Amino acid sequence: MIPVAVSVNGRHYREEVEPRLLLSDFLRHGLGLTGTHVGCEHGVCGACTVRLEGVAVRSCLLLAVQAQGCEIVTVEGLAGVGELTPLQEAFRRHHALQCGFCTPGILISALFLLEQNPDPTEEEVRAELAGHLCRCTGYAPIVDSILAAAVALRR
Ligand code: FES
Ligand code: FES
Repeated sequence: MIPVAVSVNGRHYREEVEPRLLLSDFLRHGLGLTGTHVGCEHGVCGACTVRLEGVAVRSCLLLAVQAQGCEIVTVEGLAGVGELTPLQEAFRRHHALQCGFCTPGILISALFLLEQNPDPTEEEVRAELAGHLCRCTGYAPIVDSILAAAVALRR
């Protein structure tokens, strides 16, 4: 076992982990943060995306020990209890989720996109979404939500 100390959603954790433990499994099973979903476990579906030091990353492609000393934000850390961020509110208003399996990862990537590019085109939003699989929505309401959130965040 190896010690790992991380900050997740502003809370500090110090745990002993197996060297082979994936960051996604550490978050879900070690810390109980099951909002980070696991689909493919090889970097294709995007469901496991979290913020690591401000950057959107696949948590299934990292070991927990690689996050030593890092700040992580999962979907649980995006808004306060009973609150929605403008991006989450846009998803609700535009019906951008059905089963919701893809949603946590897409929210994390969309937030990262809007921080880098506050006024993205539809093509740029779709390019970002190319790293995420959604089997339910057909993507159109997700694209609409991200564009609407971009407008709201620029006000
Ligand atoms: S579970 Fe990580 S990309 Fe699919
Ligand atoms: S809402 Fe079901 S996979 Fe996207």
